[in-house]
Amino acid sequence: MRSEDIKHIGVVGGGVMGGGIAQIHAIAGYRVTVKDISDQAIEETRYAVVDGKWGMKRSVEKGKLGFDNALSAIDLLGYTTDTSDLSDCDMIIEAVPEDLELKQDVFAELDGVVKPTALFASNTSGIVIQEIAENVSEQRKTQFVGMHYSNPVPVMTMCEVIYTPQSSQETIDTAVAVAENTKRAVSMCKDMPGTRGFILNRIFRAAREEAMKLVDDGIATEEDIDKAMITGRNWPAAFFGNRGGIGKQW
Ligand SMILES: NC(=O)c1ccc[n+]([C@@H]2O[C@H](COP(=O)([O-])OP(=O)(O)OC[C@H]3O[C@@H](n4cnc5c(N)ncnc54)[C@H](O)[C@@H]3O)[C@@H](O)[C@H]2O)c1
Repeated sequence: MRSEDIKHIGVVGGGVMGGGIAQIHAIAGYRVTVKDISDQAIEETRYAVVDGKWGMKRSVEKGKLGFDNALSAIDLLGYTTDTSDLSDCDMIIEAVPEDLELKQDVFAELDGVVKPTALFASNTSGIVIQEIAENVSEQRKTQFVGMHYSNPVPVMTMCEVIYTPQSSQETIDTAVAVAENTKRAVSMCKDMPGTRGFILNRIFRAAREEAMKLVDDGIATEEDIDKAMITGRNWPAAFFGNRGGIGKQW
């Protein structure tokens, strides 16, 4: 599917990442349907994208998002617990918990429900994309990529686009164009069986291991390591403090 044909995006899993992903796509003008498994999860996402810490209300107050843009984005957002509501989506971005079997099952179901031309993307932090795509049709495998965003999504502008040997060039180009339409900076990354993580998390993990070694060897304290990385590299957070690490809420 070409990027100009992407109008309706399904976000599957509306948690920490899915809410942010839904938010940035609605702000970019896409119609977005968030699918989750319970009404409570849906309500939490609905609250997060409007009133949450990284929600649109605060962006408007800080002058980072126009009031009219926020209103139209809210209009473009829909919520469901029924997978069949995603049948006419042009693109799916999956953000369910980091569990290979769960992701495989979710995509197998989506493959049977969502129109055959739709692009599928996973926001996995580190699972090999080809393994996540294992249970979809051979055709859909050509329309399958990873799109890895960073938390909190409305603030962090990174998107790693992970391509497999099966991903078609059109699929890769469309994923890049959609990410760029949401004002993300795209880094390309090859899917590599036998590895875990893409660019951001692999490098962060290696740096964190070194930081832990410095602590274990009695060379520097956690506090001094965090301080050095934050002040010396302008990182917003480092490894140990309550804002440190990947996956933690800021
Ligand atoms: N949290 C992070 O910092 C971060 C960063 C980058 C990528 N990721 C990746 O994003 C994905 C989601 O992580 P998260 O932190 O947002 O998790 P989360 O637990 O906050 O959200 C997951 C959501 O998926 C829903 N869900 C569970 N099963 C489902 C199903 N079958 N169908 C639809 N929805 C379902 C849950 O109800 C929940 O709302 C994971 O793969 C994770 O590795 C997380």
